[in-house]
Amino acid sequence: MITVLDNLFLLETENSSYQMKVGAQGLLMHVWYGARTGQPMDYLNQTIDFGFSGQVYEDQFDRTISPDTMMLEYPCEGIGDYRITAAKVEGAYGLDLRYAGYEIGQGEYEVTGLPHVRGNLEQLTIHLKDEVHQIQADLVYLVDVQNDAIIRNVVFTNTLSKPVKLERSFSMALDLPTSDQTELISFPGSHNKERLLTRQPLNQNIVTFSSKRGTSSHQQNPALVICDKATTEETGEAYGVLFVYSGSFKIEVEKDQTTQTRILCGVNPEVTCWTLDPNVPFETPQTILFYSDQGLGQLSRNSHNLIRQRILPKNDYHPILINTWEAVYFDFDRQKLLAIADEAAKLDVDLYVMDDGWFGARNSDLAGLGDWTPNEEKLGGTLGSLIEEINAKGLDFGIWIEPEMVNKNSDLFRAHPDWALIAPNRKPAISRGQMVLDLCNPEVVDYLETCFTNLLGSSNIRYVKWDMNRSLADLYSSVLPEERQEEVSHRYMLGVYDLLGRLTSKFPNILFEGCSGGGGRFDAGMLFYTPQIWCSDDTDVHERSKIQYGTSFFYPPCTMGAHVSEVPNHQTGRTASLDARAVMAMAGTYGYELDLGKLNEQDQEEIRTLNAKFREIQPLVLEGDYTRLSAPENGLVLTQFTDPNQDRILVSGILYETRPTTMPRRIRLQNLDPNARYQNKEGQIFTGQALMKGGLVLEKTTGTDCPIFIELQKGVEE
Ligand code: DGJ
Repeated sequence: MITVLDNLFLLETENSSYQMKVGAQGLLMHVWYGARTGQPMDYLNQTIDFGFSGQVYEDQFDRTISPDTMMLEYPCEGIGDYRITAAKVEGAYGLDLRYAGYEIGQGEYEVTGLPHVRGNLEQLTIHLKDEVHQIQADLVYLVDVQNDAIIRNVVFTNTLSKPVKLERSFSMALDLPTSDQTELISFPGSHNKERLLTRQPLNQNIVTFSSKRGTSSHQQNPALVICDKATTEETGEAYGVLFVYSGSFKIEVEKDQTTQTRILCGVNPEVTCWTLDPNVPFETPQTILFYSDQGLGQLSRNSHNLIRQRILPKNDYHPILINTWEAVYFDFDRQKLLAIADEAAKLDVDLYVMDDGWFGARNSDLAGLGDWTPNEEKLGGTLGSLIEEINAKGLDFGIWIEPEMVNKNSDLFRAHPDWALIAPNRKPAISRGQMVLDLCNPEVVDYLETCFTNLLGSSNIRYVKWDMNRSLADLYSSVLPEERQEEVSHRYMLGVYDLLGRLTSKFPNILFEGCSGGGGRFDAGMLFYTPQIWCSDDTDVHERSKIQYGTSFFYPPCTMGAHVSEVPNHQTGRTASLDARAVMAMAGTYGYELDLGKLNEQDQEEIRTLNAKFREIQPLVLEGDYTRLSAPENGLVLTQFTDPNQDRILVSGILYETRPTTMPRRIRLQNLDPNARYQNKEGQIFTGQALMKGGLVLEKTTGTDCPIFIELQKGVEE
């Protein structure tokens, strides 16, 4: 709900309140973001005189009022606020945005050319204006009442008659009041080790989480939690910041001299500087803010619900798949492909995905990208005939593509060398033997659209894995003038979204799965187009438990591409039981990434049983409430899936090590009906209260990485 009381704006969700106020001289002050209190909270906004924190000219005699110490809604550079700031125009002198009015609306709010939060939401737009630069910044707020979320972005307009360069244009700033307790939870990593949760105290300092790789990256994720030292899964306050963007980003946090905390989130200004042409608006991507006073678990559930309801495209297709990558890599022919399909069909798999290596001269990663013509020699005939044969076995067919890339050794590059991002008079940086296509160039986007429309329209393709296997360098586009080259990074992303938008709307029945060397582009921006993303190339159970744990802080399990792969694992050489691998993969989209034909009969039989089990529990993974019961540092990663009516519960995860002479572990469940009775598969009955206060006893295990999979059903009579 949005209310305006004189000069105070109140945005209220079910459990949170966001308040700001037009202060002296038209500066827009941030007042409060936190629990609902039933009143304006501006009485808290006390300031004192800090030396070397000056005043705005009109208030120069009141030294307690300083832009350097006040909580500001959208702080800009050069007006005496020496903290990190959200916007800056080229040149030495400041951007002085003052209040110029507001509007309230309701409806679907689209951010042009960018992924965004869908649905009918209440909207507030606050107009700020710099009278000298004639730049207007419209701060847009959407209120998602149910999910305790405020969605923000900014629209810049230049009303001068000449262009102005925006050197920095963050999507939002958030000032939080004084606290010595602040901690930050972020999700750093690398290829094969994505989103490994890190929690650190925030001292008087500036901390940056960013990517300048042209993707949201394996190394950092565009998501952050700000909480208290005492915040746990179930208790305490937590703020979530989730950026709806898949390119280079920056989230910056500063604890200042007053111990207030400022958070910025936006497109990374280190690689993007936008020229604002007169009267051509520039829209920043959206940032979603979450608030929870019931700990991190509730924050995650709100984010999961928002992503499921308002970010993901509509999708009713949730197949169990077999992917050929780790079974054959580039080394296959029709016979090998069909042998895998035969096994998959026998084992009740739904979808067969032919990964990399099926096109052009693609027999290694050094050639072929760009030449999206099936290699009929390798496929032993046309792609259409292969698909027909696989369909005839009762399997749907899916295919791997990497549209944004080109190999030097490809017909496409030989024909259009200017279509790759290459700086003049320089040799391009190469990664995995490939270069990046210039998606700032509309001709390239059109070409790719035609090319993939032909491919996807020509045969019965039900699924596409959209991969992206390198970071951007050589940020130079041959179609942009010199003065706009600093826009390449963001324009590239606009091109990717344009292409994704065109193809996903042309083929609404195809399930698109995102991928970037595993989870290098796992973000809310991609999820707008691809309802699932390959979580990591690392499928080792032990490592995956940490990766999926970190990923779960913002992203729901239905988005996490997860497969059972071969042992010893191709990434770590470790061996885990089939059950353990299945338990981990069942906490995501579920599928296989191995040569099913190499399995012994017992494992094959077990796979049939596992597939049936997954189909049974799949609704819990797709729609259930997700609760983290135990974290990797406890040697036990455990999750509770609860269906929306609390009728069915699944507790699943991995116990890393079995210890000798140790009492069995007890694990307390959460969010159950205390008076209801729940029965496990062995017929034992527990009250909800017993499960929440006393807990479940985990069976004694042997070995390492032991699977835990406990199902409970509500409603049994005594
Ligand atoms: C990287 C992906 O993460 C893998 O699953 C596989 O598709 C390869 N690319 C293929 O090149």
